[in-house]
Amino acid sequence: MTGFDRRTLLKLAVATGVGAGIGIPLMSGVGGSSSTGTVLRSQLPLPEPFTQPLTIPPVLTPVRTEADADHYELVQRAATVEILPGVPTRIWGYNGIFPGPTIVSRSGRTTVVRHRNTLPVPVVAHLHGGHTPGSSDGYPTDLILPPGSSQPMTMPGMPGMVDPRAVVTVGERTYTYPLRQPAATLWYHDHRMGFTGASVWRGLAGFHLVHGDEEDALPLPRGDRDLPLLIADRAFASDGSLRYPSVDASLRETAGVTATYSGGVLGDVILVNGTPWPVAEVPAVRHRLRLLNASNARRYRLALDPPPPGGGGLVQIGSDGGLLAGPRSHDAIEIAPAERFDVIVDFGRYAPGQEVTLVNQFGAGSTTVVLRFRITRRETDDTRVPATLPTVPPLDPAKAAVTRTMLFSDHGGSMGWQINGRPYSPGYANANPRLGTVEVWRLISDFHHPIHLHLVHFQVLSRGLSGPGEYDGGWKDTLDLRPAEEAAVIARFDDYAGRFVFHCHNLEHEDMAMMANFETR
Ligand code: C2O
Ligand code: CU
Ligand code: CU
Repeated sequence: MTGFDRRTLLKLAVATGVGAGIGIPLMSGVGGSSSTGTVLRSQLPLPEPFTQPLTIPPVLTPVRTEADADHYELVQRAATVEILPGVPTRIWGYNGIFPGPTIVSRSGRTTVVRHRNTLPVPVVAHLHGGHTPGSSDGYPTDLILPPGSSQPMTMPGMPGMVDPRAVVTVGERTYTYPLRQPAATLWYHDHRMGFTGASVWRGLAGFHLVHGDEEDALPLPRGDRDLPLLIADRAFASDGSLRYPSVDASLRETAGVTATYSGGVLGDVILVNGTPWPVAEVPAVRHRLRLLNASNARRYRLALDPPPPGGGGLVQIGSDGGLLAGPRSHDAIEIAPAERFDVIVDFGRYAPGQEVTLVNQFGAGSTTVVLRFRITRRETDDTRVPATLPTVPPLDPAKAAVTRTMLFSDHGGSMGWQINGRPYSPGYANANPRLGTVEVWRLISDFHHPIHLHLVHFQVLSRGLSGPGEYDGGWKDTLDLRPAEEAAVIARFDDYAGRFVFHCHNLEHEDMAMMANFETR
C-alpha cells in the first residue's frame, strides 16, 4: 500500500470496533477527537482553581562529580503530601515528592543515577527521550525488586510468562546515561511491565533536562524564566488517596484496569507540577515554558486566554528531542501523553496586572483550565527568539533501508491493545534494525494512540496524504497518532545494540499489552 488508503483504514476501523459499539466508552471530551479514555471522578470537593502557587520541582544535587560523569541518587518511597489543601494524600515519589526532583545534565556528559527502591512493589526507571544503551534503558522486565525479596519466577502482570533475558536486581540499580544527544526536555518515570499506569499515577515521574553549549549560546529566557511544567490529571478518593481503577490493588499480580477504564484513565483534577490548577506571578517578559504532558491518557489543546494582541502567543522552539530548526507560532498546542513542547511566551505582550489563563480546549468542566499567570510588572528583557535555531538535518526516506508497518488496534480483553495483532511479549521482536541504518515506520491506528519509540528520535514524514502536522516539527520520540490515521516517521537506529521497546504511551494501553520490541544489531 502506498500512502494513505482511506477505504482500507475505514475497513480497519470497523473491524477493530471504532463506532461499532464494542461496549467500552472510549471517546470523551469535546469535538469527538480529544482523548481515548473514561473520566474517573474525584469523591471529595475540589479546590477553587488558581488559589495555590505554582511550584517548580527542586533540582537534584549530584552526590559525586567526576571528570567524566555526574552521579546522583534517588530513593523511591511512599510519602504523605498535601495536594488538595488540608487533605493528606499518600503518594509514591522519587525522593518522596511528585514530581520527582529535576535532574539537570550537560549534553555529551555521562549522568549516573542510582535508584533505591523502598516501595512494596518492583519498579523500573526509564529516562524517556534518552538515547540510552539497553542495559540502562529501563526495560519493563528489568525489575528492581523491593529489598529482601527474591526473584519472581513469572512476570508480574503476565501470569505464566517468563523473560529469561530480564536483568533483575534487589533493592537498587544504577543507570548510566551517556546523553550523546542535543539539549532537550526529557523526563523519567516508572516503566514496570503491566503496572506503569498505576505507578506513574501515584507519582513516579520527574523532569530530566539536558542543557548544551549550542543552546546556551542562544538569547533564550533562562533561570527562573525557564519553567518546566509537568501537566497531569488525577482523581482523588474520599479518603484523600489517589483514585485509580486497578484490577489488582496490590499492584503486584494482575496488570491493567477494570473494563470501564480500559480505554484509558482520565482524571478530573489538573495538576501542574503536582499542584491543582496553580497560579504563577510572572514579570511582563519572555518566559520559556517546557510543557510536558505526563498524563496517563489525556490529550490537551493548550491555549492562552486571552490570547495576546495579534495571536500566535505560544512560540514553539523545541519538541521532544530538542530545538526546532526555527520557531513556530501557535494559537494552541495539541499535546498527547509523553509529548513535550518547548514554547516561549512573551508576557510583555500583556499589561501588568492582567491575568492570563492556560486553558485546555479539549477539556470539559473542571478540565478546561490548567494554570493561570498573573502579570506583575515590566522588567528589562534582553532575550529574544532567534529566527533560526540549530539545524535539524532532514532524514531522507530515499535512503531508508526498510519500510515497516505497525498497526495499533484494540482486540478486546485485558491484553487487547495490540501491535500488528500481537500483545506484548518480551521474547518477540517486531523489527531488527541494523545499527547505522535509517528506517521508515508507517504507524496506523484505530483510536488515539501516542506512539513512543525508545532509543531513537524520529522525524515525521507524513500524516495521511499530507505532510507532517502542525505539531510534528523537529525531533520527536512520541507521535500523537489520531483515530483511523496513518503516519510515516523516519529514524536512524544508532550506537546501541540490544532490545528496546516501542509502545503506546496511553499508559493503560501500554499496561494492557500495546507494546513490542525492536532489537538493533
Ligand atoms: Cu515514557 Cu517507554 O516510555
Ligand atoms: Cu521512553
Ligand atoms: Cu494506545
